[in-house]
Amino acid sequence: MSITSFPMEDNRKKAIPPNTNVAGQETEDDAIFNISLRPRVLREFVGQAELISNIKVVITAAKQRKEPLEHVLLNGPPGLGKTCLAHIITHEMGSKITATSGPAIERAGDLIGILTNLEKNDVLFIDEIHRLSKVVEEFLYPAMENFQIDFVIDKGPYARTIKFNLKPFTLVGATTRSGLLSSPLRGRFGILYHLDFYSPQELSSIIQNSSKQLGIKVEAEASLEIAKRSRGTPRIANRLLRRIRDYAQVDKKDKIELQLTNQAMLALGIDRGGLDEFDRKFLKVMLDNYNGGPVGIDALAANLNEDAGTIIDTIEPYLLKAGYLKRTSRGRFATALAFKHFGLPYPKDSQQELFE
Ligand SMILES: Nc1ncnc2c1ncn2[C@@H]1O[C@H](COP(=O)(O)OP(=O)(O)OP(=O)(O)O)[C@@H](O)[C@H]1O
Ligand SMILES: [Mg+2]
Repeated sequence: MSITSFPMEDNRKKAIPPNTNVAGQETEDDAIFNISLRPRVLREFVGQAELISNIKVVITAAKQRKEPLEHVLLNGPPGLGKTCLAHIITHEMGSKITATSGPAIERAGDLIGILTNLEKNDVLFIDEIHRLSKVVEEFLYPAMENFQIDFVIDKGPYARTIKFNLKPFTLVGATTRSGLLSSPLRGRFGILYHLDFYSPQELSSIIQNSSKQLGIKVEAEASLEIAKRSRGTPRIANRLLRRIRDYAQVDKKDKIELQLTNQAMLALGIDRGGLDEFDRKFLKVMLDNYNGGPVGIDALAANLNEDAGTIIDTIEPYLLKAGYLKRTSRGRFATALAFKHFGLPYPKDSQQELFE
């Protein structure tokens, strides 16, 4: 028999995100603090109103039918609450979660151990699901479709395929790049949600909630200012709050005011438009080297010495949303707003308007 049970701990360890510091990506510091700042139940989750009201309906209906929730795909830029939601869904369903990630599942065998250990109605959370290998993905299809897996035992002439029945479970997949998901995999999710950037008001209320847990008072004006400079992202809002709290502590202030916030933002390199150093570097390359565009992502990545995927995942979504960047069939353009941000005149010969 070639079937083994794979220790879950290993997968969990591998699932810890890398410690990088580009825009919304999670750092080790975030990971430690966010455990306590993470909303645990639906009513603590701020924003994404439409998604939340929909989730309430599907969860209530599934519970009434005493069935597991249909498989859920959560898609959206980093730091908007996909992992949070996976845990909240599990909690609201009254079930248990097993968390892993696409790159952590190297072979189909890794999945056998995980799937056969799931109890009825459990949630299997696969983060970065777009990074599953083709073989693993195909192995997952029958498990998602009819809670069955096929595996081969023995080798050569003795090889046989055995069907194994799993207990009904819910797969919750999270991805920052749903475009990279194969259509057969996407098609097997019954519920698809897109998380969008948060409004300054929503972020301000997240900051107020987090400040209570951190034991510091933040004035309303200050929390709105932090919110406006958080790239629409709760993870960044919480990160900035922790940094500004450091400044308040060193200044022996018992509350965070607007003036201190503005000073701290200056020191942290976050400008009034909420752009950080890397955002500015990115736009400056477009303005200085390409007269605003059009420019392809690979050329930009090479100029910035950064991975194209990281730029697409973490830098561009907010710049697009905030109106600094436009993506067209010809390539990327920096918008008139981007030129204005740097106090530069908009080039008269820009071809941007030709490629709406
Ligand atoms: N709606 C929300 N209300 C309050 N806090 C939130 C909300 N969404 C996210 N957060 C905070 O932001 C942090 C990041 O959220 P989370 O880890 O769920 O993001 P993610 O979408 O999974 O990101 P990634 O794509 O990098 O995995 C959480 O730990 C939590 O503190
Ligand atoms: Mg996550």
